[in-house]
Order: sequence, then C-alpha cells, then structure tokens
Amino acid sequence: MHTTHDEVDLKLQVASRTEGAEGVVVLELRDPSGADLPAWAPGAHLDLELPNGLTRQYSLCGDPNDRSAWRIGVLREPEGRGGSAYVHDELTAGVEIDVRGPRNNFPLVSSPHYVFIAGGIGITPILPMMAAAEAAGAEWELHYGGRSRRSMAFLESMEELTGTRVTLHPQDEVGLIDLEAILGAPRPDTVVYCCGPEPLLQAVEKQCVTWPDGALHVERFSPKEFGEPLLQGAFEVELATSGMTLTVPPDKSILEVVEEAGVPVLSSCQEGTCGTCETPVLEGEVDHRDSLLTPAEQEANDTMFICVSRAACPKLVLEL
Ligand code: FES
Repeated sequence: MHTTHDEVDLKLQVASRTEGAEGVVVLELRDPSGADLPAWAPGAHLDLELPNGLTRQYSLCGDPNDRSAWRIGVLREPEGRGGSAYVHDELTAGVEIDVRGPRNNFPLVSSPHYVFIAGGIGITPILPMMAAAEAAGAEWELHYGGRSRRSMAFLESMEELTGTRVTLHPQDEVGLIDLEAILGAPRPDTVVYCCGPEPLLQAVEKQCVTWPDGALHVERFSPKEFGEPLLQGAFEVELATSGMTLTVPPDKSILEVVEEAGVPVLSSCQEGTCGTCETPVLEGEVDHRDSLLTPAEQEANDTMFICVSRAACPKLVLEL
C-alpha cells in the first residue's frame, strides 16, 4: 500500500470560514501560535477529531507551498451521522479543533498525462493535483460534475480554464459526465484520478477495466459495500512482535481484539477508509474488506486494514 504515515496530532484554530457553494463551507485552519504546519502533498487528507466523538476525513485542498494554513471544503450531508453538521454548525472562526494529519492514501504519481474526474465535493483533493500537474508541465484535463453550478465549489478558481482543460458537467444543464466518451479507450501514458460519490466511482472503475493496471486511482470517503465475510467462524491472529496468539470471534474486528489484549495500535475511521490501522501481514490469506487497496495490492496480501478486514484462512500472522 502507499499510505504515508507521517501524521501528527495538532490543535488548530479555524482562521477563516467561507461559503464555497450551496451546502459547502471552506475552512482555513492555522496553528494558534502561528507555527508552520507539516508538509503535505496533493491527495493528502486530515482527520478532524470532533468533540462529539466523531472522526472525519477531509482532503487538503489549498496550496501545499503555503505552510501557514490548511484548507478543507466540507459538504453538509443531511443523511450523515453528524460529522459534517458539526463542522457546519460549530466550527466558526476562532474555534480550536483537534486534528491528525496529514495522511496520503491518494498520492499523485508522476505522469505526462492526467485525466481528473471529480463529482461534487470530490473536487477537493483534485484541486492541488491540477496545480501540481500544471507546474510539472504535464497535459491534464478535469471533468467536474455536480447537481448544479450552485452546488459546485471552487468554480471561480477554474474560470480561465473552463472550456480548455476544464469541462464542467452541471447535471441540471448537461446531464451526467459521459464517461464512455472520456474513458472508453485506454490512452497511452495516461493516469486517471477520480474522487466523488460512490456511483461515480463505480462507474469510473467499470469504465477503466480495460485500462492498464495502476492507471486508475480513486479515493473513497465512505466505505464500499461488502457481503458476508469469507469465514463465518472465529480465526486466530498471531502477533509476531508481541508474541501473542489471539482468537478473533465473528462479532469482533481484529482491531478490537488486539486492543483488548493491550497491544497499542493506531486507528481512526474504523470503517476501512482512512488508512490509519494499516498492518503488515507476514503469513496467511486476508479477506480484504477495506476501501483503499487496489485489486493488485489486495492480491499481494502483504498488508491489511485490521479495523474491517478479516482472515480468509484459519490463522494470520501479523507484524504487531
Ligand atoms: S481505522 Fe481507518 S482504515 Fe482502519
């Protein structure tokens, strides 16, 4: 896996708050002492650790060269579990908030050609990617869809590029993004980056099956749907470093069992999307149930996310 683990715990202050679009607030977070924030690269996100107990991931969408502030865009999700509502209702200018980051599960690989596809608030990780591609002298294009122009954040930053590198697809004017036209045939030396709602991600994944392995990069902030685990019963995990063997019953995650045994392990989302609990696998077959690894990475079977993934064999040996 490609997750980078250089995150730190910080208490940051909301320095400014603006309306990014209908239902979207854009926050700028700074260290209250004015200290520089850790370096980050396009694709990175942070965890907001909300006082109501929820942890939420948001992509950094500002300029990585500006170490004085981190910028995030947050869509209010009325059907959500309260994370985005808290951000919208409580995080006003001056409020301090616990943050962990940056972590990058969606790094921008070097390429001469990029196709960026963003749906709604999925534009956030793509913005610094566009700037990086431009700075590197690469060819790039963005296809940006949303319900309507009013709901699409950061349009003002794209005005000059619209019609050339940027194609807008407000659904109420032009319908859905025509993925067949954009991705119908694999293009040489081209990588595709997509972030957005699950139906868009699935449609792009389907369209890219004929593209070379590794050409498509997606980022999910809500977990994929999985059916029943491969193993219905309990299984064992041997923790090679701690020298323990533990039994994981069907109703518990490996993470829960490991924590109960007193072995310290970092975790955040507990739903297989953030990458924090990544654990090297030394032996055994994994039933991968995360929303991060590509099929090739899953097949390599050398890493897993123990908050959701389980064993596909009687015993796993983990580097823990
Ligand atoms: S805690 Fe987020 S992937 Fe496991």
